[in-house]
Formats: sequence, structure tokens, C-alpha cells
Amino acid sequence: MKVLILGGGGREHAIGLAVSKSPDMEALFFTPGNAGTAAIGVNLEIAATDIDGVSGLCRKEHIDLVIVGPEQPLVLGMADHLRQNDVAVMGPSAGAARLEGSKSFAKDFMNRHAVPTARYRTFRSDNLDGALSYVDKEGAPIVVKASGLAGGKGAIVCNSVDDARMALRRLMEDCSLGDAGEEVVVESFMHGEEASVFVVTDGNNYVLLPSAQDHKQIGDGDTGVNTGGMGAYSPAPVLTMDVMRRVRAEIIEPTLRGMSDEGTPYQGILYCGLMITDAGPKVVEYNCRLGDPETQVVLPLLQSDALELFYRSATGTLSDYDLRIGPGAAACVVMASDGYPAKYETGRVISGIEVAQNQVQTTVFYAGVRSEGDELFTSGGRVLAVGSTGADLEEAIERAYSGCSQIHFDGAFYRTDIGRKGLARIQTT
Ligand code: GLY
Repeated sequence: MKVLILGGGGREHAIGLAVSKSPDMEALFFTPGNAGTAAIGVNLEIAATDIDGVSGLCRKEHIDLVIVGPEQPLVLGMADHLRQNDVAVMGPSAGAARLEGSKSFAKDFMNRHAVPTARYRTFRSDNLDGALSYVDKEGAPIVVKASGLAGGKGAIVCNSVDDARMALRRLMEDCSLGDAGEEVVVESFMHGEEASVFVVTDGNNYVLLPSAQDHKQIGDGDTGVNTGGMGAYSPAPVLTMDVMRRVRAEIIEPTLRGMSDEGTPYQGILYCGLMITDAGPKVVEYNCRLGDPETQVVLPLLQSDALELFYRSATGTLSDYDLRIGPGAAACVVMASDGYPAKYETGRVISGIEVAQNQVQTTVFYAGVRSEGDELFTSGGRVLAVGSTGADLEEAIERAYSGCSQIHFDGAFYRTDIGRKGLARIQTT
């Protein structure tokens, strides 16, 4: 099979590594890819959002399957366009991707289908006064969200009414996130522990990948600003069998049924970002793709053929797929450039990757890495992630950190507590 993966981050490197294990893999392309994907396929300088460029490439190379990594191409209609041209695509239509592309659509959808989520109100940007009165009435803590895509910067947790008023003014008056803030969702703060569930569906059938927990904040102990994710582990012990039964019955099934009933059947990955509250699981957000860095811990636990899984999702043939998940656990730690998620330097020499890769059951997933001759240089904020599997979470974490300790670049930093919450939960149950 000839496969094209859209995107160029650690997630796409992880997807590439997973599908490369398939005996059906014939040729692998990435647009645009990164220095890691160049070692397992062919990188082409086409943007992941370039619908005409990607379509042309599919025709030229007779691509059998396109796997879309990031959300932007899906929200722009990449999957619709490719399907119209008879290319199998792992990813939802633009109509279905609204579950991520519009928080306001997603909240109203959950309301219509009784999917548990936080209480909310939506305001257009010309109704700042309405939004300010609402936060005055609701009080803090409260969450202010840009409705549109904002690259992970759109949700602002406000611990005081003053902070919430300021967040609203920034989004609605100063347009700090541009069009993403044309509509703003204000929702009540949910107490609990977050976890992520990844549904692979072909529109009628679905299977669940291992669950995961991300570490969104920059600092140890979940402190500081939000990032794209500083590390992850899988599975997430907070999602017990009982909780998962509720997640399926109260969240996944009504969501998939609701999308079909509304004429936008969901095909691809549905990433449910959940809060496990005392009252049960509730949706924090939907995403229309795999998570980054969660993919780097979820796919290494898959024992069945990942390429077959994605192809079956894309072609409506998931019903008899034999999903096999390995025992044990996986953890990954993101190494970032000092200053991330704000301003950071690039062009720093990276060393030690080979030594880290030689650690048992360890992979280095490249993200902001560029190669020049034999040398590797930083080219992004999240530079790479060291991922390991182990017999249990403790072993996986230990191996991932041992890998990190071998890798060096100026200004490198990483969280030192990835997976600690999971370990604490395992030890107390
Ligand atoms: N790690 C969070 C995300 O992929 O949205």
C-alpha cells in the first residue's frame, strides 16, 4: 500500500513508525514531515493544508491511503476533497471536524444529544457586555474559550472574575486570537482528573485505542502556562473499567449516533478529552485527530496492524478488525526549547539521540528537528519526545527519563513528573 501522512510533528513520526511495521506497507510519503520521518519515508515540501498540492501528489504517486495528522486540513475540507477524488482518507469530513473546529458547535451538539459536559454560554464578539455580565454572575473559577481553532492556546482557565474579564477583553476586543475568537464559549470549571480516549471509527463501527493522559502545563505539578503537551502516558488508570463503560454509553455512542443522525457521520479518529468528575466522565473537548504527544504512547502499545486499522477506518470496513493491545504501559517525555511556548531560539545542535535510542524499548520521536549533513538542529519549540514502553508504568517512565538524560541541546528542558499522577493512582488502588 502507498501511504501519505500529512503533518510534520512527533505525532506524524509516531504514526509513520507504527504503519511502517505493516507487511502491506509499500511506500511512505510525508507532507511536509521532519528529520525523523525522512529516515522512514519521503518528505515532500507540500503544506499539510494545501488541498490541491496533496490531491496532485495522490494522483502522481497513486496513493492508496492518506492519514491526516493535524486538525487544520480536516477543518478546511481535505478529507471531503480527497474522497471526492476516490482517495481513501483517515480523517473526518469538514462537517464532522466541526466538533473540533467550532467549540460552539460542539457544545450545542452535546446539549442536543445529552452528552455530559460543563454548563456554558456562547457569545459573539460584538456582545462583550453580555459575556462580562455572564462571568460576573457565574463567578470563578471559570473557563473562557475561543470557539475556533487556536493551536492549543484557545482555552483560558480563569481563577478570578477579573482574570475572566481580562481574557474576554483580549479575545473579543483585542482579537488576540484573530477569527478564532469571533465566538467565545464561557463554561463552568470542572473539578477532577483529565484523560484522553481515542475512538477509531468507520462511520458505523468503532474500536478504542489505549487511553492516555497528557501533561498540558509547562511546569512540574501542572503549573504555568498551557502548551501543546509536555509528555504523556498510557493507559490512564483514572479510566477504570466502570468509568470506561460510562464513557462508551454516555459519551462515545451518543456522539457517533448524533453525528450520523445529523447527516455528518463521523469517520476517522475522534479524540475525546474528558474530565473524570465525582459525577462521572464529562467532555472537556472533542478533537478530530490523534493527540500529540499522546500518539507517541498509544500507538506503541498496539500489537495489531496499525496500517490495516487506519485503512479499514477509511474504507468503512472496521467491523471485523482484530484489535490487539499489548500488556504493560508507555510513557513519553517532551524535550522543549527554553522559552517555549512563547519565544524560543532555534538552530541548536542536538546530540545523544542515538545513545537514547539504544536504551531498551525506547524511541525518539522527532518534532522540531532539522538535519543538515550529519548534524541535527532544533527547529521548533517542542523539539522531540523520548518514548518508552515497559512491563508497567514505572518501568516505562524510568526508561523514558533515562533516554532524556542522554540527549543534549542548549536550552533543553523537560518536565520531571510525567506519569506521577498515574503512578500515585496505581499505588493507592
Ligand atoms: N496534546 C493535546 C492535543 O493533541 O490536543
